[in-house]
Amino acid sequence: MTKLILTRPDDWHIHLRDDLLLETTVPHAAQQFQRAIIMPNLKPPIVDVAQASAYRQRILAKVPKGLTFEPLMTLYLTAQTTPSMIKMAQESGIVFGCKLYPAGSTTHSENGVTDLQKLEKVLETMQEVAMPLLIHGEVTDTEVDIFDREAVFIDRILKPLIKKFPTLRIVLEHITTKDAVDFIKSTPENIAATITAHHLLINRNDLLVGGIKPHYYCLPVVKRKVHQEALLAAATSGNPKFFIGTDSAPHSREAKETDCGCAGIYTAHAALSFYAEAFESVQALDKLEAFCSFNGPDFYRLPRNSSKVTLIKEEWQIPKSYPFGKSEVEPFRSDTATAWKLSS
Ligand code: NCD
Ligand code: ZN
Repeated sequence: MTKLILTRPDDWHIHLRDDLLLETTVPHAAQQFQRAIIMPNLKPPIVDVAQASAYRQRILAKVPKGLTFEPLMTLYLTAQTTPSMIKMAQESGIVFGCKLYPAGSTTHSENGVTDLQKLEKVLETMQEVAMPLLIHGEVTDTEVDIFDREAVFIDRILKPLIKKFPTLRIVLEHITTKDAVDFIKSTPENIAATITAHHLLINRNDLLVGGIKPHYYCLPVVKRKVHQEALLAAATSGNPKFFIGTDSAPHSREAKETDCGCAGIYTAHAALSFYAEAFESVQALDKLEAFCSFNGPDFYRLPRNSSKVTLIKEEWQIPKSYPFGKSEVEPFRSDTATAWKLSS
């Protein structure tokens, strides 16, 4: 196959950052996607409708002329979130999910939640009004090995949570393990998962063999090859519980290339090319459209997009860097040629 025509995809998990940085991230995202679920982990985080609405306007102001892009906002759950904030969010028409970051689990998660008990009323309300709960699924217990944190989260936190709130709509975000794939498959239809392009394309050997690659470091960290294979199998299975979510998470070059580098991989510039490459690697390009364009809106109860995009099999070179505020960001795969190109 040398040409793919797909219903225009959406991204169900992206970090656009703020202010000057939006000048880079928003045009990239808008070229690839019609809509995107916007992560709220700014500093300080987006915790209520007023902040979400102002952030949404800042994003919209950076959408290039001629493109349509709809930011689907999210709220960051903290110990101060109340049931009435959830109801307001649901009624606002601009908030499509609330994000649970276990405190300390990842970049800008220090305001996250340590004790889920405290969120009981909030979660009850979310279940009642059908507001999706978006979860960064890793425990932060220092005793737990970083490669096991997702699997332990599923056992310790997610299973009891689902038991307690059986009809709560949940997206386990950016899954990275066979454990997560198997678990999601066993759950009812109100529970789904997103998968990033980079977790389909790299494993921990790519991160660590022959020297540490800071630009391949993200959270949850890439795992063994068997897990990468399980993710590829899930994404290309046609199972509607699995859908696209890039977790494109840019950091400046200085923040990555240092003795304590930030977690996050930037993929927004060519996300669809990366997913196409991953699906092609297992001869499953026929499953790409459902994963990128159907399963996400179906889960979020939004209409599927009506316009189309075209991907062409044509080798091109991603630039070594993009401007990123006063610095630059190194995009994923700037080191190798990319096989699929989004036609403009
Ligand atoms: C994200 C970021 O930088 O905001 N980093 C990452 O490695 N994925 C946060 C997150 O989604 O974990
Ligand atoms: Zn993320």
